[in-house]
Amino acid sequence: MKSFINVADIGPLEKALAEAQEIKNDRYKYQHLGRNKTLLMIFFNNSLRTRLSTQKAAMNLGMNVIVLDVNQGAWKLETERGVIMNGDKSEHLLEAIPVMGCYCDIIAVRSFAGLKDRDYDYAETVVQQFIQYSGRPVMAMETATVHPLQAFADLITIEEYKPQPRPKVVLTWAPHCRALPQAVPNSFAQWMAAADVDLVVTHPKGYELDPKFTAGAKIEYDQRKAFEGAHFIYAKNWSCPGVTNPEDYGKILTDDPTWTVDTEHMSWTDDAYFMHCLPVRRGLIVTDDVIESPRSIVIPEAANREISATVTLKRMLEALV
Ligand code: CP
Repeated sequence: MKSFINVADIGPLEKALAEAQEIKNDRYKYQHLGRNKTLLMIFFNNSLRTRLSTQKAAMNLGMNVIVLDVNQGAWKLETERGVIMNGDKSEHLLEAIPVMGCYCDIIAVRSFAGLKDRDYDYAETVVQQFIQYSGRPVMAMETATVHPLQAFADLITIEEYKPQPRPKVVLTWAPHCRALPQAVPNSFAQWMAAADVDLVVTHPKGYELDPKFTAGAKIEYDQRKAFEGAHFIYAKNWSCPGVTNPEDYGKILTDDPTWTVDTEHMSWTDDAYFMHCLPVRRGLIVTDDVIESPRSIVIPEAANREISATVTLKRMLEALV
């Protein structure tokens, strides 16, 4: 695997899930693969789970790890071309990226959507520059439009908890006080569409995700109808993807509290498990009693981030040799 951005990069999901189980049984089985190999993790944005789980995954595989927080301790980076750099940004990404590539074998990048310019974000301008100029395989640790390590961990979790061979999985929008990117729901929809599940996506009108990610999913605007018979409820906020009205891209269109997942919402389901990628704002996305209930699997879901990252890095290391 050269780079890891989309579900197609991991190949057949049954094989990836089998490898995830193998790693879970013995997470140090492939320690030899990473010997004398270096992972460089670049963060343009904050992280708890991605930072820790990806670093742990690299250590499982015997790799050396360098972590760089671009906005803390490094030169501030200019990402646009054609800019006169007379502000506070001392270095251009187009020099920084090939330099970073000199010090590692694999680059992992976190760079969120700016939510100002849909075309810039959906072209994955920053990550594509890493792919083009670093000379190294690139692993997405959440980009402008995708978060494949999260979606892979979500799939592993659903595989472990599913009560029937083809479960009903519901991705539901929930309110939030800040405009958030669409990377998590995009990847979740993309990975679920490729998996053996019935996917329903529910949200208020105007929050339609890009169809390139939701192809194959049922879109249901009535949240109650969507929840009926569900085996998994995956809650997430996202800002307006700008599919129907491009001028609304990145905006909060509503903060309707009736979309918050509470015990009544969960009672509409077939005793569903509750999932969220975390971090989560209680009282907005989900109530305390739902996230603390025995049907909440947010912690095992987060634990599976180590597994998804180990399988992904293993594949990337195998492709190096
Ligand atoms: N879910 C997730 O990616 O968490 P972090 O933002 O803390 O890495």
